Amino acid sequence: MQPAQQAAWLDRVRSHMAARTTDMAEDVARVDVARYIDPQRLTAEQALLRRSPIAVTFASKLAKPGDYVTHDLLGLPILLLRDTAGQLQAFLNVCRHRGAKLVWDRGGCGKRAFTCPYHAWSYDLTGKLRGIPHEAGFAGIDRAQHNLVRLPVAQAFGLVFVLPEPHDGYDFSGFLAGVREDLESFGLGSHVLHDEREIGLKCNWKVVIEGGLETYHVPFAHKTTIAPMFADNVAVADRLDPHARLYFTKRNAAELVEQGVEGRNLRDYGNPLYYIFPNLIILVQPDHATVMTVFPQGTDACSVHGGALIPQPPATEKAEAYWDRNVKIFWDALDEDFQMGQAIQAGFRSGANTHVTFGRFEQACAWFHDSLDRRLAATS
Ligand code: FES
Ligand SMILES: [Fe+2]
Repeated sequence: MQPAQQAAWLDRVRSHMAARTTDMAEDVARVDVARYIDPQRLTAEQALLRRSPIAVTFASKLAKPGDYVTHDLLGLPILLLRDTAGQLQAFLNVCRHRGAKLVWDRGGCGKRAFTCPYHAWSYDLTGKLRGIPHEAGFAGIDRAQHNLVRLPVAQAFGLVFVLPEPHDGYDFSGFLAGVREDLESFGLGSHVLHDEREIGLKCNWKVVIEGGLETYHVPFAHKTTIAPMFADNVAVADRLDPHARLYFTKRNAAELVEQGVEGRNLRDYGNPLYYIFPNLIILVQPDHATVMTVFPQGTDACSVHGGALIPQPPATEKAEAYWDRNVKIFWDALDEDFQMGQAIQAGFRSGANTHVTFGRFEQACAWFHDSLDRRLAATS
């Protein structure tokens, strides 16, 4: 982020701290509870996710030729790897003989080829069909038609994005244009993964996303954990449709009121947070970032996948302990959100509410639903 833009952002924070205000939308918004419990809506959203660029893993897990990762949280099997020429590759993790899952483990390194566990057809790291045992039995088949099915893939901000549907020449840069400059300026591209977790929850995926998009709940839901660090309900919020950018202000931002914002570092006075459509949240902290993606698994079930992006692998036990401690704070605070999310889902099922209300400073939740609605409408 350019220094001038950092200053502009901090200036908004400073005004809010002085006037005890926060960014607000014009109006309160509401959405029907039905969208959190309706199976048809879920099917449409899952289809939309499969047509959207999704952050499926961390780039540091695919740093070297032969590194590979499998991903199943979208309900379709995906294989990601770095080939011998150093190119990132993504494929449907499906053998072209009779459709068995090609790679069954979660990932690893040092691969030069993959062999299907069913009848041992083998593929090289570019997805090319190489070997067919008892090949005479397949006389006449067109081998070129039996390579692995390739998916568009790109690396950005220390993450690997995949378009889960085969597509010619997908424009990831265009999709990420609104957030790219900011996120690159934080140096996340060279950061490495620490403390990766995958967590199953009994709530709709959208409830988890909403929990990341407002700071109104922090003094209450996180009273004994992170609340002491943050100012009460002071945020700046910019819609970068379909994405959004927020800034969750810390208490020490009060000093900006007297001292001004010139030369100040944005990361010292709060946490910038980026929502990237449809299911990714990147929280930028003073010396690292934390990442969470949320995958629907049912109307009342989802999986959260995430971890921290830290500047370099910890070189000492002390550094390891530092990052463990730091990232645990993130996961512990998220667990408070997750418990709330599961309780909310049970509340939806009780029939107590017909709709959810988003206050004027919960505007990013309303933007999220609006972006989702418009993309669903465009493709239905
Ligand atoms: S299904 Fe893979 S080799 Fe038969
Ligand atoms: Fe929270």
